[in-house]
Amino acid sequence: MDVVIAGGHGKIALRLERILSARGDRVKGLIRNPDHAGDLRAAGAEPLVLDLERASADEVAAALEGADAAVFAAGAGPGSGAARKDTVDRAASVLLADAAQRAGVRRFLQISSMGAGRPPRPGSDEVWAAYLRAKGAAEDDLRARDLDWVILRPGRLTDDPGTGLVTLAEPEVGHFDVPRDDVAAVLAALLDAPHVRRRTLELVGGTTPVAEAVAAL
Ligand SMILES: NC(=O)c1ccc[n+]([C@@H]2O[C@H](COP(=O)([O-])OP(=O)(O)OC[C@H]3O[C@@H](n4cnc5c(N)ncnc54)[C@H](OP(=O)(O)O)[C@@H]3O)[C@@H](O)[C@H]2O)c1
Repeated sequence: MDVVIAGGHGKIALRLERILSARGDRVKGLIRNPDHAGDLRAAGAEPLVLDLERASADEVAAALEGADAAVFAAGAGPGSGAARKDTVDRAASVLLADAAQRAGVRRFLQISSMGAGRPPRPGSDEVWAAYLRAKGAAEDDLRARDLDWVILRPGRLTDDPGTGLVTLAEPEVGHFDVPRDDVAAVLAALLDAPHVRRRTLELVGGTTPVAEAVAAL
């Protein structure tokens, strides 16, 4: 399988690159900082410098040409303001989806977030509200497209070692933690499960082995 990951230097992205390259898939990671290229190569991925806040849909489509799947793993990250929630968490996902359709890449996995699209609790921080709005808008955009999409909403991410045990189901599964290792493992399993499509799934730590959780969908 030939997979393109947008936000290729992200913490989940690097884990997914290691899993996919170890099982013999070809992985390309789109990054904005050329200094990150070595980390991608070490993870078994081919780096391609493409800033998703500046690139055109045609440029991204060229990067996707011939791929079997696109994964949106980018995010403005902690410390960014409301404006970049919109330009990355929403607009870069929209750009990747536009490009996937231009390039004829039907399979599209989007990392979203628990709480996306729901109104934030009263009194929530404005940047947090902007984040949830951006993730919700990116989800809505993807749901309206003729693509074989899966929206994956993890709970709070940790860098704890993966357990391989998850709860993966339609909303709502509850706000719990999930190790990034297990998010990457679920994404890899979803790439192998093309019958799982047009589904919005929430993911937290649980008791079901990843392969079983995906097979049960
Ligand atoms: N933190 C949580 O608890 C939580 C919970 C649920 C969901 N999520 C979401 O899960 C996703 C992945 O999480 P993660 O921890 O793996 O994220 P991460 O480590 O912050 O990775 C995000 C990546 O996106 C890249 N990026 C940002 N702007 C870009 C641009 N213009 N062009 C290309 N790449 C760009 C960043 O690159 P740079 O290094 O160049 O900035 C970074 O490598 C994020 O969307 C996050 O919002 C997070």
